Amino acid sequence: MRTYLVTGGAGFIGSNYIHYMFKKYDNEIRIINVDKLTYAGNLENLKDIEDRENYTFVKADICDSEAIMKIFDENDIDRVVHFAAESHVDRSIRNPEVFVKTNVLGTLVMLNAAKSAWELPDGTFKPDKKFLHVSTDEVYGSLEEDGGFFYETTPYDPHSPYSASKASSDMLVKSYMDTYKFPANITNCSNNYGPYQFPEKLIPLIINNALQGKKLPVYGDGKNVRDWLYVMDHAKGIDMVQEKGRLFETYNIGGHNEKQNIQIIHIILDTLQEMLPEGDPRKELVSENLITYVEDRKGHDRRYAIAPDKIKEEVGWYPETCFEDGIRLTIQWFFEHEDWMKNVTSGDYQKYYEAMYKTK
Ligand code: NAD
Ligand code: TYD
Repeated sequence: MRTYLVTGGAGFIGSNYIHYMFKKYDNEIRIINVDKLTYAGNLENLKDIEDRENYTFVKADICDSEAIMKIFDENDIDRVVHFAAESHVDRSIRNPEVFVKTNVLGTLVMLNAAKSAWELPDGTFKPDKKFLHVSTDEVYGSLEEDGGFFYETTPYDPHSPYSASKASSDMLVKSYMDTYKFPANITNCSNNYGPYQFPEKLIPLIINNALQGKKLPVYGDGKNVRDWLYVMDHAKGIDMVQEKGRLFETYNIGGHNEKQNIQIIHIILDTLQEMLPEGDPRKELVSENLITYVEDRKGHDRRYAIAPDKIKEEVGWYPETCFEDGIRLTIQWFFEHEDWMKNVTSGDYQKYYEAMYKTK
């Protein structure tokens, strides 16, 4: 049975990936999820799988090399899927240091631990061991409004402390592949949306605020463009790259779904109106009048757009969920998980995981 070590599996994409993997492979795999449980990590995201025999949660910081080495010593890890990171650009502008610690040094710890567990005396690696580093399109910088795409060959040009820290972590992974022939891949994905996304990011923030009649903050002129991908399509892409991609290669993941932020906000408002039943008091709260233009983000990248040609051609990946369906699925999920949103915004989940952790 193949054993996966997933870092950051209690966060947004990591928890969706774990759900995806158990749905796809069921009892054919084992997953060990290592997560520090920062403000963004939430064990409630994994409630429905936490009792599985083939799932283990370990609370640890990826910067803690002893704790990470211990996991490798005690388990024969076949796959590492490395999500753990500080992930929010606005936070990185306010406090860059933790981004460098977790994203850069944490990645180095993960690389060293996997290398030391997998390396043979002759400097080659045990067969069928693979490390996948989950990264972002933000490392490529910003595109002009009127054209161009990010390819795997696009030079790195990060602008925020977040993207600079992710770019540095990518470079470290690349250096391990080049220097040691360390068996790894890097994926650079566009903006994700879907269930379990923390409401500091655009889409869940707009859904949550609109339903409460709160202001919808639009940075700058609202015309910055992001390329949105439903999170389960990202999860599928990661698995496909790890199993079908060529080792040592980078793959961009994105679905050609570019939209201006203001368009996203209008789509969300329209879809909420459509989906809320007549008589629901929230229907009157959801309104375009909530849209509020605010000061622009410092160093705000204008446009991101992924060219997914390589992953389509080499790996056979394509996105299954169009934005219209994905946003409905996301809104439906938030309707059905009001408590999740309340707990996350009130901080109650912190108590939940402390209690959970003590019982493990
Ligand atoms: P997230 O902030 O929702 O989750 C991050 C997880 O990592 C949390 O569970 C957190 O507790 C954990 N974590 C943070 N610091 C840690 C540490 N020092 N040790 C152990 N665990 C730690 O982030 P996300 O949106 O799920 O992103 C996951 C990965 O995907 C990141 O590497 C991010 O750069 C990348 N990515 C995100 C997007 C996106 O749109 N969200 C797009 C492309 C790539
Ligand atoms: P975000 O979800 O933070 O993702 P990223 O910055 O990693 O792309 O932001 C997506 C876009 O939405 C980005 O251009 C910034 C903008 N934005 C707003 O206009 N208002 C907001 O309240 C937030 C959180 C983001």
